[in-house]
Amino acid sequence: MADTGATAPDPLDTNTGGSALIQRAYTLTGPDEARALYDEWADSYDEDLNDASQGYVGPRLAAETVARVAGTDGEILDAGCGTGLVGIELAALGATTIDGVDLSPGMLARAKATGAYRRLAPADLSRPLPAPADSYDVVVCVGTLTHGHVGPHAFGEFVRLTRPGGSIVATVLDDIWDAGGYRAEVDRLEQMAMVEVVSTDVVDYRRSADVHARMVALRVA
Ligand SMILES: C[S@@+](CC[C@H](N)C(=O)[O-])C[C@H]1O[C@@H](n2cnc3c(N)ncnc32)[C@H](O)[C@@H]1O
Repeated sequence: MADTGATAPDPLDTNTGGSALIQRAYTLTGPDEARALYDEWADSYDEDLNDASQGYVGPRLAAETVARVAGTDGEILDAGCGTGLVGIELAALGATTIDGVDLSPGMLARAKATGAYRRLAPADLSRPLPAPADSYDVVVCVGTLTHGHVGPHAFGEFVRLTRPGGSIVATVLDDIWDAGGYRAEVDRLEQMAMVEVVSTDVVDYRRSADVHARMVALRVA
């Protein structure tokens, strides 16, 4: 089973904008299936997400949030980097030190071709990463804390990887923010004084499909 949190929101409640591949992505049952789907999708992913029926603005809005809350000077981990859309947006805002991890070698190959990343490596975000604690100034995660992908416990691992005073910026689909247990995990980390919640605003995500996300910005204690 994928690490999808305490409850299982119905993925069919989220508008796919008519995309069969997005529907498959939202109904993934675990990392092996995710790796296979994204390896298959890698070559057409950018085109599919940026077409008129989707209008995928999540990466740009997340990069702008990073720039606003943390700046782009530090070491940044793009967790679930996919083809590198977030890295491209961060680089356009001045970031020069971005590492990326993702489950799918096919997506990582596309990310490498962008030239935006310092290092790229395969990793499963539903498990602890091999990187030491306090490795990054910023962890950014877009489109990966979602149906069938990576559950709320990843926030704890992002905290471990982020230096004190650093920031976490992540999108979570608005319709699973509560039901998927993501809000509860962020609340738990805040209650344990491990993070300060900077914002959890509702923002456009796949704008043309009218899909919204929480833009979660946390400061690590
Ligand atoms: C919707 S894409 C988002 C990619 C990129 N961040 C973007 O915004 O375009 C989701 C990504 O999560 C990756 N993924 C899915 N499950 C994962 C897991 N357990 N660990 C790491 N990456 C995972 C997929 O390979 C895919 O690249």
